[in-house]
Amino acid sequence: MSPARDRVYRADIGPALPSEVSRVRPFMRDDCAILTGTANPALAAAIAQSFGLPITPCQVDRFPDGEVAVQLLAPVRHKTVFLIQPTSPPVNDHLIELLALADACRRAAAPHITAVIPYFGYARADKRVGRREPITARMVSDLIEAVGIDHVVTLDLHTPQMEGFFHVPVDSLTAVPTICAAIRAALPDGVAVVSPDAGRVSMATDYASRLAAPLIVLHKRRASGRETAVTHVVGDVRDHPCLIIDDMIATGGTIAESVRALRESGALPEMLVAATHGLFLEGALEKLERAGVRAVFITDTIAQPIVNPPRLQVVSVAPMIAAALKRFVADGSTDDVS
Ligand code: R5P
Repeated sequence: MSPARDRVYRADIGPALPSEVSRVRPFMRDDCAILTGTANPALAAAIAQSFGLPITPCQVDRFPDGEVAVQLLAPVRHKTVFLIQPTSPPVNDHLIELLALADACRRAAAPHITAVIPYFGYARADKRVGRREPITARMVSDLIEAVGIDHVVTLDLHTPQMEGFFHVPVDSLTAVPTICAAIRAALPDGVAVVSPDAGRVSMATDYASRLAAPLIVLHKRRASGRETAVTHVVGDVRDHPCLIIDDMIATGGTIAESVRALRESGALPEMLVAATHGLFLEGALEKLERAGVRAVFITDTIAQPIVNPPRLQVVSVAPMIAAALKRFVADGSTDDVS
């Protein structure tokens, strides 16, 4: 083991708590390098600016057959690397970019690699729902560790317990305080916070307590990746405008179906939506518009193809992520960041 290597946390010496990890290697900002793949360069630039470092240049390209080709264009020897790459669609390409960049950093003698994965693709594949299925989220966490990534920072993981798939430390941040601070003034009087399913109750409780709003919980059944049905509304939503919250909006089916069920239960027509990750697949934004959603608040974890689409308001989480990385660099805990 090299002298640089033996100061860092290694998965094979056993599990460590985040507070222990932060003691492993106190280091300074100039010992760090920030790199990014192609998933969200604007977010990476905003994080780097808040952190106070330029992005270390690297080339991320494709071979003619579609294989990912990466090359670091500056040394990272003895640097603590922060590799910023949400694994957003195209998920597999962005995942392989992340893994290849990490491998390049490790082979270039970076002693410590933190993967900053603001949106974690495959997080919904965290259990087997049918026979002979994989647990792909677990497989992805194994791949991440296999390339030498020894710390993961992520945001509003689909299921927080997914952290347990890793042997290396995971700092799981939340965008809820940032979103609440940004949207508070735009909310109508008497707004009720709505969890669209049982999985989001904890997040919705956090929203409701920060916004001092009542909480409504929907019971959702998912028939397929595209079809959902709300069968029960728990709580009295009559005469309330609603803020439906979620970790992510993919096809928009969950939100559209939630709006339908809330209206049927007597909610006021005013519907707002707040979610951390806006994937907006297959005309999801139009679907939300047709459902009568007045405004959608999301963060910038995922790059949006259209600048300023109507009804969409983007709240940046870059300063919050940069603050977490700064605290990590300063040998502190990321606890108080979000
Ligand atoms: C599911 O459990 C998630 O929290 C989201 O509600 C879901 O992934 C959103 O997907 P869609 O927009 O396709 O309904």
